Amino acid sequence: MCGIVGYIGHQNALPILIGGLKRLEYRGYDSSGIAYKNGNGIEIYKTKGRIRELEEIVPFPYEDANVGIGHTRWATHGAPSTTNAHPHCVGGVAVVHNGIIENYREIKSRLIAEGQTFNSETDTEVVPQLISWNMKRGLPLYESIVESISTLKGSFALGIMSESDPAILYAAKKGSPLVIGYGEGEFFFASDIPAMLSHTKRFLFLQDGQICTITAAKVDIHSFGQHEPAEKEQSIVEVDWTAAMAEKDGYPHFMLKEIHEQRRAVEDTLKEWNDCSEKLFEDLKLTLKNTFGLRRIHIAACGTSYHAALVGRYVIEELARIPVSVEIASEYRYMKPIIEHDTLFISITQSGETADTLAAQREAKCKGARTLTICNVVGSTASREADLVLYTRAGPEIGVASTKTFTSQMAALCLLASGLALKRGRLMNGELKVLMSQLLKIPELIEKVMKKSGEIEALAATLINARDFLYLGRGVNYPIALEGALKLKEISYIHAEGYPAGEMKHGSIALIDEAMPVVALAPMNSHFDKILSNIEEVRARGARVIVVTDEPGAFSHKADDVVVVPSAHPLFSAFVTVVPLQLLAYHIAVLKGCDVDRPRNLAKSVTVE
Ligand code: AGP
Repeated sequence: MCGIVGYIGHQNALPILIGGLKRLEYRGYDSSGIAYKNGNGIEIYKTKGRIRELEEIVPFPYEDANVGIGHTRWATHGAPSTTNAHPHCVGGVAVVHNGIIENYREIKSRLIAEGQTFNSETDTEVVPQLISWNMKRGLPLYESIVESISTLKGSFALGIMSESDPAILYAAKKGSPLVIGYGEGEFFFASDIPAMLSHTKRFLFLQDGQICTITAAKVDIHSFGQHEPAEKEQSIVEVDWTAAMAEKDGYPHFMLKEIHEQRRAVEDTLKEWNDCSEKLFEDLKLTLKNTFGLRRIHIAACGTSYHAALVGRYVIEELARIPVSVEIASEYRYMKPIIEHDTLFISITQSGETADTLAAQREAKCKGARTLTICNVVGSTASREADLVLYTRAGPEIGVASTKTFTSQMAALCLLASGLALKRGRLMNGELKVLMSQLLKIPELIEKVMKKSGEIEALAATLINARDFLYLGRGVNYPIALEGALKLKEISYIHAEGYPAGEMKHGSIALIDEAMPVVALAPMNSHFDKILSNIEEVRARGARVIVVTDEPGAFSHKADDVVVVPSAHPLFSAFVTVVPLQLLAYHIAVLKGCDVDRPRNLAKSVTVE
């Protein structure tokens, strides 16, 4: 969480830094700041609040500066304030940081005993303090930086500049994401690609334990503690994302734009392997031998990606008949998972940088599992560290609430399940063809649901005063109930629970009264009669019932509101039932005046444990 940017080159750094920070604001948005080189030294502007507040204090027209660093913060140590905002500057060395310095207390006490004076409550400040102290001891700048970094425990992506050598930027990484952007006679660094997309599409993903020195002419990459540049040439990745993909494109919020992009995102994810051809298996490096030998699958993920994993379990088990266990990644990493040589571990993560998911993947790998990641960001840590990668093609997702990456993850899982089923002889070619034709219809069905936005907005207007919601689903729609509740909670701050409909009578039914709207997912499938009974049960207790169904006739006297969705293949119905829930949460949040793209206390990418 937190976003960092840096620029060095022939252009004015200030609009580039501020523009980059705006694109990283989803990572943290309680305070921000920039540092740049002017004629007399390093100039720093920082403030509590959003980037627009930073823009108000940076003098305009901008000074001409060709080197600078910037930061947008999600507070961990010390409340959001101007003093705690980054950059932190000590002895002419300015630092921006994403991550957590776990041993900052010890370092701080030691440096205070040595006579250094601290200004902020942050963990970050120990970094410029250490560098400046090492310089006072006589070490040159680069050596001071490397020596200081070797003292740090925890995770960091650091951007550093110094008055003493203003034509060089330093960037270092351990545990937190950091990407270098390659331009012509100019270089960038940032926590994430969208911050640099309007300037370049060529990126290098710095690896843990690497530090680079960046001038306007070149980037040199070293391992911590080594003077010689890294021996192995690292590859520069060219992405096909465009700057426009990271713009709102006329929509009032990124979230609404991304909900609308789902048709395209799912279509693009399905396109590459739409016949579950050999190419899927070639790309995944899964041979006949190792798919037959596969005895179990573990999936670990967080938040929305975890809900996609739960959908994946139903689909893989039904089609490929392989036992699948799904765990929340922060639990998996500590639960001593039982992994045998015939276990496939799958991580699901749109960012590829979620700390808990990465830790789960590392745990599985070190215990001998073959690891596959379903990921949206080419070159991200998860994709680099996993043995196999299945990319979702959702394009950059900026809104904190995941939408298009969720449906794209489900699409990837359906492909994987179908492919495994074919390889393992659970599906014949003809059956697969029929199934794929159903899956390929999904983008069109999503588009049809999108037309309901106005109707759902009107429904939302009648629900904004509710204090609690219950979402119910069965089978593949149980995870959609969880996802609907999460969407509502995170952007509208209304308490909501997702429940397997059959489990409700074992406790949570006690909560139901006239004040509690219940959203029930009831597409026509083998659970239909059961969920119908559950709906009767909540109606009998006075709840307001909102049903999402493709069978509206069944609810003429049994629901207060019915959102009609098109019929999909029962295994794929989650694609059409989740979209109304995303729209409902979005419209409720907007009507309540909430900041939909930057909900309080949250950040898009959770890179700390
Ligand atoms: C949901 O809307 C959130 N964005 C959050 O739950 C997210 O899915 C979770 O933090 C996992 O992120 P990842 O997919 O990048 O790993």
